[in-house]
Amino acid sequence: MTHKKIVILKGSPREKGNSAILAERVADGARSAGAEISSFYLHSMDIRPCDACEACHENGGKPCIIEDDMQKIYSAIDQADVILIASPIYWFWLSAQTKLCIDRFYAYAGKKPNMLAQKIFALVFVFGDSDVYTSGGINAIRSFEDMCRYLGAPIGGILYGSADEAGDILKQEDLLNKAYQFGKKLGASH
Ligand SMILES: Cc1cc2nc3c(=O)[nH]c(=O)nc-3n(C[C@H](O)[C@H](O)[C@H](O)COP(=O)(O)O)c2cc1C
Repeated sequence: MTHKKIVILKGSPREKGNSAILAERVADGARSAGAEISSFYLHSMDIRPCDACEACHENGGKPCIIEDDMQKIYSAIDQADVILIASPIYWFWLSAQTKLCIDRFYAYAGKKPNMLAQKIFALVFVFGDSDVYTSGGINAIRSFEDMCRYLGAPIGGILYGSADEAGDILKQEDLLNKAYQFGKKLGASH
């Protein structure tokens, strides 16, 4: 039996904000099932935008030639079974920090085999509005599903909640319990 390895990509500038809290609760559940977690706080990292050089699709070597902190994430992803994206909703989509990181997954997409097709993707997000449609959360779900379909990667689940001030999500015990159970499922050994 091998322990699952989970990479968490936290896309809020608020290090202890609502999406990070939700992601940590997922991580707690996953750890309880024996998983190992590597978390990345994207806002503190030097992640440059994809510059469309296409080198990733021309060489068989490392995923991307841009020498920035994304290399640390690529290394963690190499080892991972599960990739959990955790983001606030900003302007009706995932945050810019999250988008920068996701764009750089392009480096895997043209490779054969496409390594991300073997990873399970999961998403947690938080919005300030009360509704998943008017908040723009629906756009995050749609784009996430499109990304997974394009990569051929299985979806491990999507969890979201509504909260505005940092830490407000802590008042939602039901949601936090759901996050813990979600983590347990993601972290269950193969
Ligand atoms: C720049 C900015 C843009 C935002 N845009 C939206 C939005 O489009 N829809 C929404 O429902 N909430 C929006 N919010 C509210 C955040 O989604 C909400 O505060 C959420 O709890 C932030 O999660 P975090 O604590 O993980 O950063 C926005 C907040 C900021 C700062």
